[in-house]
Amino acid sequence: MADWNTLFYDQKNIELAPEPEVVKFIELLATEFPNVRKRRVWDLGCGGGRHSVVIGKMGCKVFISDNSSKAIELTTKKLEENNIDYLEALTSMENYPWSKKEFLHGVFSWAVLQHNTLDKITEAIDCIHDSLLAGGYFLGTIKSTKADLYGKGEEIEKDTFVLEVGIEEGVPHHYFDEDGIKQLFPSDKWEIIILAEQVVNYIEKAEEFWSFNPFRYTTWCVLAKKR
Ligand SMILES: C[S@@+](CC[C@H](N)C(=O)[O-])C[C@H]1O[C@@H](n2cnc3c(N)ncnc32)[C@H](O)[C@@H]1O
Repeated sequence: MADWNTLFYDQKNIELAPEPEVVKFIELLATEFPNVRKRRVWDLGCGGGRHSVVIGKMGCKVFISDNSSKAIELTTKKLEENNIDYLEALTSMENYPWSKKEFLHGVFSWAVLQHNTLDKITEAIDCIHDSLLAGGYFLGTIKSTKADLYGKGEEIEKDTFVLEVGIEEGVPHHYFDEDGIKQLFPSDKWEIIILAEQVVNYIEKAEEFWSFNPFRYTTWCVLAKKR
């Protein structure tokens, strides 16, 4: 059974280029928290560290977490090579990893939160909320029910599927519709600043196109502010 830890041993599964959204996010935090020498930002599900390094290079202290030891190893190596101040936690998203609460300016999480069952994703969002200062921001992407692979694999609960083939065999994916994603960020705790469903409709695709695909996938894009 593949899991992300195994996948990260193969260089071709490690994304190298950061998504440009991370830069805009750190710029937003700089505008919102102008008088802070070093903003504190958590890269939840840091993977190979492509965003953690950008966050650090933009002057933030970086908090990294992942449930893959290989991901933590890859990311800490990159952070150390770049002399970036960081704190790490090897843990699953539903566990609160830091000794303090309400101390972070931002939480960034790209293509991570979908890798769980709904109860644990909800717990992860609670952890994110707990970690943020009032007025702190979350930016993340989370799978949409309009995504290509929706419905593929074994359905272990409503809208959570475990693929039986491919590189993500054995990895759960939960898919959110509009009501579901809104419920994940209840309005008494979060102000949704932007909720966008980015839908990419592949008209033609070669077999196993995902192994070289340079384009984006369908996903929810969430920018939310802690109340
Ligand atoms: C698609 S990769 C994205 C990695 C990184 N955010 C990026 O954009 O390069 C998904 C990441 O989620 C992590 N992950 C999967 N399940 C997790 C869990 N239950 N708790 C924490 N991290 C998890 C994987 O180890 C992997 O690093």
